[in-house]
Amino acid sequence: MKKLAKNTVLCLQPVPQTIVSCRDKEGRNNALVVGFTANVSLDPVMVMVGIVPTRYSHHMVKETGSFVINLPKKNFMKEYDYLGSRSGRDEDKFAALNLQWTDATYVNAPILTDCPVSIECSVVESTQPGSHELFIGKVEAVHVDEEYLDEKGNILWSKMDLL
Ligand SMILES: Cc1cc2nc3c(=O)[nH]c(=O)nc-3n(C[C@H](O)[C@H](O)[C@H](O)COP(=O)(O)O)c2cc1C
Repeated sequence: MKKLAKNTVLCLQPVPQTIVSCRDKEGRNNALVVGFTANVSLDPVMVMVGIVPTRYSHHMVKETGSFVINLPKKNFMKEYDYLGSRSGRDEDKFAALNLQWTDATYVNAPILTDCPVSIECSVVESTQPGSHELFIGKVEAVHVDEEYLDEKGNILWSKMDLL
């Protein structure tokens, strides 16, 4: 017999495990762990990330209208934990972790090159119905490590050892 849960927080599972990288208007890079991510449109392709306004990354996404969603592999657990618990307000997390990165091609944000998939997004709109501001991003490009693409450019998700 079903009963009602008293704690309904995060009732939709599993929560995606992603790292969102971004940059402020002075060019400083930062990244944080974001579980509130979703596909929101097939045509044009759009996704969403939810960021709490008190996160240091929040003003960066606001300023540049850009973010990158990086999908980490299991061997990136140490970096994932760090990026999800420390704030760019207190330190340069890229320097602390010696993160490997490159500029995104179409948006003003860094790509984490150790992640097999990085999704470049430009913000088309945002809304804040609750705790998180939901940034809806048009997908400008999806970078994938060559070994995880077939000859037609399809992503071979099952080959990836994602977190
Ligand atoms: C598993 C996990 C999921 C998280 N999901 C989110 C999220 O969806 N949105 C958010 O704003 N913060 C989320 N956080 C918290 C931020 O990653 C964390 O507060 C981070 O230190 C913020 O970094 P910043 O201040 O440099 O932006 C999550 C943390 C963890 C560990």
